[in-house]
Amino acid sequence: MKFFVDTAEVDAIAELNELGMVDGVTTNPSLILKSGRDILEVTKEIAEMVDGPVSAEVVALEADAMIAEGRKLAKIADNIAVKVPLTWDGLKACKVLSDEGQMVNVTLCFSANQALLAAKAGATFISPFIGRLDDINLDGMEVIADIRQIYDNYGFDTQILAASIRTVNHAFQSAQIGADVMTAPPDVIKKMAAHPLTDKGLETFLKDWEKTGQKIL
Ligand code: E4P
Repeated sequence: MKFFVDTAEVDAIAELNELGMVDGVTTNPSLILKSGRDILEVTKEIAEMVDGPVSAEVVALEADAMIAEGRKLAKIADNIAVKVPLTWDGLKACKVLSDEGQMVNVTLCFSANQALLAAKAGATFISPFIGRLDDINLDGMEVIADIRQIYDNYGFDTQILAASIRTVNHAFQSAQIGADVMTAPPDVIKKMAAHPLTDKGLETFLKDWEKTGQKIL
């Protein structure tokens, strides 16, 4: 499973990148706002730091304007994935940009039918938002599983990018179902390393080690 980091905070990306945990990055207008940075500037910095796809989102609502914005964002670097919303115009923009050879991430996906349309329009990535479905008492994981089944039924190349990951359980279940990629905030990725039995075991080992009176260095 590929790990994308869902943030525009360069320091957090750099820390995870050093551990080889970053296969790509996703941003959105809210994350750009949170970073306080200029979209073109920060996206360039991230794209230089990371080898994999870096998603940068258009904000226009009509297809022609989305395509123009997408082309501008794509010029930032070769590894930009243009992010378009899953609207009818977004699908039109996806088709045009994909036909030009541009990576496209179709975002704000909340149903398997939407994901089917994105695949037909040539999306490189489809981003179903798990956490936001859970927020309204729907089952985000069920949508991921349905998309997996449909894409496998017909051999679509579009990669399932499990998004809006809020918990370590979301990460685990996405991997179990077979999402190709997950994009998660840095703190969720770091929390995946935590286990109380690891902490407890380490504490015991260190106490016993102290009793041996030995040193390794
Ligand atoms: C995905 O590309 C989005 O940026 C992100 O996962 C949205 O997550 P949120 O629902 O926690 O804002």
